[in-house]
Amino acid sequence: MKKVQLQRYSGAQRSNHWAVVACFVCAGITGFALFHPALFWLSSLAGGPQWTRILHPYLGIAMFLLFLVMFFTFAGANVWRKEDSAWLGSAGKLVSGGQVPAAGKYNAGQKLVFWVFTLSLIVLLVTGLSFWQAWFAGSVPIGVQRIAVLLHAIAAFVLVLAVIVHAYAAIWVKGAVGAMVRGTVSAGWAKHHHLLWYRELTQGRPPKA
Ligand code: HEM
Repeated sequence: MKKVQLQRYSGAQRSNHWAVVACFVCAGITGFALFHPALFWLSSLAGGPQWTRILHPYLGIAMFLLFLVMFFTFAGANVWRKEDSAWLGSAGKLVSGGQVPAAGKYNAGQKLVFWVFTLSLIVLLVTGLSFWQAWFAGSVPIGVQRIAVLLHAIAAFVLVLAVIVHAYAAIWVKGAVGAMVRGTVSAGWAKHHHLLWYRELTQGRPPKA
């Protein structure tokens, strides 16, 4: 029997998401190559050190702009609600196997990751522009640039950690990656993981096949 499917992401939303991921990987590789001599070998993946230095800021800006589209698409669904505090309070049960309170389209963990993405990308953009030698650095005091370099590295570290948590959770929750690949989830998946969203979509009526 064919499972009833519910739409979770449109084609445009999925393309947007995977374009952000591609930029994240490329900006990450070029950024790590510039970060420490031990990782300099990564610059050969971008066509050498000159290309690494040229491409890294443009890849970062592309990631920011593409994420901005995601931000406006998903910010509403990531606003903190009182059921999220309850969910977070019992998140330990996810590991011990207990029952967690019902979640909306996104649970509290996903919402926190969303806001960490947003904040770290803003810090990366603002600090990165301030020491971009080719364009703006000439008009920024050197003391400010030095602090910006430090904040840039911290924000990149936080973003990478958040992406690891995000990707791990996506793979751990069976059916979630399918949502971002095909755009749909089964009605059972929606009911099990995001009951309040399922109720919102179906308004108490059984979903059509
Ligand atoms: C290899 C890395 C990644 C994987 C495997 C992945 C996977 C996924 C999956 C499966 C979902 C759907 C979750 C659901 O519907 O419950 C999702 C949603 C999302 N992803 Fe990713 N993702 C990755 C990297 C990223 C990056 C780098 C960003 C942005 C910096 C990002 C931003 C988002 C956002 C904003 C959503 C919508 C959920 C929300 O608003 O909380 N993802 N991702």
